[in-house]
Amino acid sequence: MATILVLNGPNLNLLGIREPEVYGAETLADIEALCAATAAEAGLGVRCLQSNHEGELIDAVHAARDTTVGAVVNAAAYTHTSVALHDALKSYPHPVVEVHLSNPHAREPFRHHSYISLVADAVIAGAGSCGYAHAIRLIADRTAATGDPDTDEPATTRK
Ligand code: DQA
Repeated sequence: MATILVLNGPNLNLLGIREPEVYGAETLADIEALCAATAAEAGLGVRCLQSNHEGELIDAVHAARDTTVGAVVNAAAYTHTSVALHDALKSYPHPVVEVHLSNPHAREPFRHHSYISLVADAVIAGAGSCGYAHAIRLIADRTAATGDPDTDEPATTRK
């Protein structure tokens, strides 16, 4: 079964507890379950990983190159700092959708720049957990349009 990588960055393990007025009441487990259910509707699977460590996120992108058909990425604070994650995603050969629970552009100025947006096919911000479901559907649609989900091999690759 073709698989979508769902990558969550630092502090997102605390969802539900951390600033619920900003990030919502749902836990990371809730969001990962939503991703799995949404992907299943399209006949796809998910591989979910959350890490507080930049290198682990980069390793996950590398490991997903040949085994996934797209990536949903909420890099959290690394969004605004990580050239290394930007570079890893730049050489990831499938669609990348950047997701944020909140709308960083309506927040502090240091959240206004994203290193991920430069290498993302789409950005969904401020839609809460629904943003993840939209991102999964977007990748599912692109996979259906460009490749065979049964083989994990898109007929055309983006980069
Ligand atoms: C976030 C926004 C980032 O600015 C912040 O550092 C996060 C979460 C979001 O989902 O809204 O940790 O990516």
